Amino acid sequence: MLPSDKNNTQRGFEKTQKQLVEIRQMGVNDLSGVLSIEKVSFRTPWSEGIFRDELFSSLCHSLVATVEDKIVGYICFAIIVDEVHLRNISVHKDFRRCGIASQMMSEMIRTSQERGVLWSTLEVRRSNTAAIQFYEKYGFEIKGIRRSYYRDTGEDAFIMWVNLKEYSSRGRKRHFHHE
Ligand SMILES: CC(C)(COP(=O)(O)OP(=O)(O)OC[C@H]1O[C@@H](n2cnc3c(N)ncnc32)[C@H](O)[C@@H]1OP(=O)(O)O)[C@@H](O)C(=O)NCCC(=O)NCCS
Repeated sequence: MLPSDKNNTQRGFEKTQKQLVEIRQMGVNDLSGVLSIEKVSFRTPWSEGIFRDELFSSLCHSLVATVEDKIVGYICFAIIVDEVHLRNISVHKDFRRCGIASQMMSEMIRTSQERGVLWSTLEVRRSNTAAIQFYEKYGFEIKGIRRSYYRDTGEDAFIMWVNLKEYSSRGRKRHFHHE
């Protein structure tokens, strides 16, 4: 999606309605809502089984964003010692560019910092410019490439990292707080 699509995606939900967004733990009952977003967001979507495994893993954290009880996004991340691996994030097409992914990222960072995590990392398709721009806005930098990482297309993955401590000291921490 290009930045010029911005106005087309908001469809009645604006950034100013941020207070309507609730971020909470994902539960098994949320999976149908989560899967309906997952299936239209990714070429090779995660199965229900993968989400269930995340829910029952002690390392994994899964959150949903809701607006008036409707699931509009989700984030899955795993904390391993001093690293947090962002495993999945998606927002319903009609609710993109409203700050919802930012709110979920903020929650991931807050949870990670509480646990003394120093680094965050993720993989993203080379062609996913929307996601790359989103991650760059929040301090992630491309630090490596996994060649032909995605089996469906053979596409490369960029490996992105952010040092969470550095992130705060660079004065960008305000992005992680809900206004
Ligand atoms: C990437 C994604 C999660 C972003 O969700 P979102 O809720 O729209 O993101 P936000 O509104 O919080 O965006 C915050 C900032 O990120 C950047 N950004 C987000 N989407 C962008 C886009 N399509 N183009 C350019 N920049 C973008 C902008 O700087 C934006 O700030 P702005 O709206 O004030 O300009 C969403 O596009 C999505 O669900 N994509 C499909 C799933 C996916 O690719 N997930 C990532 C897998 S690695």
